[in-house]
Amino acid sequence: MDTVTFRNACGQFATGVTVITTIGPGGELIGVTANSFSSVSLAPPLLLFCLGRDATSFSTFQSIGHFAINVLHEDQKDDCMHFARVGDDGRKPFEGIDYETWDTGAPILSGCLANFECTTENIHDAGDHVIMVGRVNRMRAEGEGKPLIFHAGKFHQI
Ligand SMILES: Cc1cc2nc3c(=O)[nH]c(=O)nc-3n(C[C@H](O)[C@H](O)[C@H](O)COP(=O)(O)O)c2cc1C
Repeated sequence: MDTVTFRNACGQFATGVTVITTIGPGGELIGVTANSFSSVSLAPPLLLFCLGRDATSFSTFQSIGHFAINVLHEDQKDDCMHFARVGDDGRKPFEGIDYETWDTGAPILSGCLANFECTTENIHDAGDHVIMVGRVNRMRAEGEGKPLIFHAGKFHQI
């Protein structure tokens, strides 16, 4: 099967956009744009995202045991693009990014529609990605505003 055709077909499914964050063992802050977010279970409260094995942050997410999911507001396209690029040293600066920290130190981005702080529950092999399942320990949902939408490689507002 042609990979590009497959990717384009999958891209017909419209999604919101998240930035997944964590903090490395040396205190380095990490953020990755991801649209592969899904809710999984209400009791216990479980969420997932899929992480590419070639991500520079892969080994940190695999070993650190926690992460945060930040659901982007329609005004946060710049944050989306910032965390979608590979930084010069494999990391992206958090200078100029407005955030706070809760219990784990993972950045909780300001202005999001929702934020979830999770403990890693499972990591499942899935081809060239892994499925990261997180158990939500703390969350905030402002419920104000509209989401950033991603469809067919473009951003949209609803
Ligand atoms: C809209 C959008 C959605 C993305 N979704 C994912 C995703 O679900 N999983 C993933 O691994 N990468 C995804 N990416 C690509 C990563 O954000 C990108 O590869 C990033 O550089 C990875 O960070 P790292 O290499 O610093 O770890 C997405 C990019 C964009 C623009």
